Amino acid sequence: MFDFDETIDRRGTESVKWDEFPGTLPMWVADMDFRTAPCVREALQRRLDHGVFGYEFLPDTYFESISRWFSSRHGWEGIKRENIVPTTGVIAAYSAAIKAMTVPGDKVIVMTPCYNAFFPAIRNNKCETLRCPLRLENGRFSIDFEDFEEKAADPRARVLLLCNPHNPVGRVWTREELTRVGEICLSHNVFVISDEIHCELTYPGHDYTPFATLPAELASNSVSCISPTKAFNIAGIQIANIFAHEKEIVRKMDRAINDNECCDVNVFGATALQAAYNEGGPWLDELRKYLWDNAMTVYEFLRKELPEVTAPPLEGTYLMWLDCRKALHEGEEVEGLSERLTEHLLDKVKLVLSTGTIYGEEGEGFMRLNIACPRETLKEGLRRLRDGVLSY
Ligand SMILES: Cc1ncc(COP(=O)(O)O)c(C=O)c1O
Repeated sequence: MFDFDETIDRRGTESVKWDEFPGTLPMWVADMDFRTAPCVREALQRRLDHGVFGYEFLPDTYFESISRWFSSRHGWEGIKRENIVPTTGVIAAYSAAIKAMTVPGDKVIVMTPCYNAFFPAIRNNKCETLRCPLRLENGRFSIDFEDFEEKAADPRARVLLLCNPHNPVGRVWTREELTRVGEICLSHNVFVISDEIHCELTYPGHDYTPFATLPAELASNSVSCISPTKAFNIAGIQIANIFAHEKEIVRKMDRAINDNECCDVNVFGATALQAAYNEGGPWLDELRKYLWDNAMTVYEFLRKELPEVTAPPLEGTYLMWLDCRKALHEGEEVEGLSERLTEHLLDKVKLVLSTGTIYGEEGEGFMRLNIACPRETLKEGLRRLRDGVLSY
């Protein structure tokens, strides 16, 4: 019903992904090369046609659309207007949440490798990063709970900045894992900020568990940062929401969002969000199928043509975490491999991937591949990846 095979030329549109390295095939920045859902485009067109774009407030329908969507799709009941603090993006959301829940000098735990923009947000709030490396066992990433509990017990650890589902390793945390995380955090007085921007993009057998749906005492010790922007490819429109159960926490979030002066969202964001949540389900479901087939294409290609590179099972997100450590030459130091490889790919085959180490030193030897593009583009990227790695 929807055409994800169409190749859309994004060059010359000031696209970060396409215009930063002209003349290359970019598979790095986390946006998609698809048009957003027709319902979103139509709603934006109607809003555009009105022609007046003065200041607006958010209507009740905005909050109702969030509430209906999360209840019907994810079993998260009872979201009300008074639980929500809107803002201009998920980075703005978690950054304000860090500000609200810490004082300078506190430590913020992250599970590394993690989304690279977590690090500056922690620094900008004058906090220290406390890394809790994920464990890679039998090709699958998991939380090292022993290490996590040790980190949470650090008296200066105040916040866990969680990525659920996890960019870049593609895990969709299970209810059991999240419950254990929540229990450890509660027992050590560590507050959970759950970045759930990738929550819609999950694959067969892996359902997203909203942190806010954990048992009440765990969920109350958290905020969730949610947005339709990743799933509907409208990240440039910039809109997100912070959810909290407790009135007092909502008040703190609201205070921090106002301190940071990022409380006014743009008119197109509000329009796009409502269209996506009210009518975007069928489009999203087809997109998820298409992305899943893309992931299968990658696995098959790697198995047949590039066994030196492997990827853990993709449970969520459209970002694949490529383990390239077997590309190492005899005697070559693993340190710097990610950077050397990404530079080599750029230089030799004009393919742009993300360097693993920008997600923390645990990303050494890895590269991140964005598979949210038409299948033919993906196949071209894979051929370049093969030629690039084999000529390294
Ligand atoms: C985990 C995560 N959080 C936040 C963002 C950015 O969110 P926003 O553009 O709404 O600030 C991204 C973008 O890739 C992401 O992967």
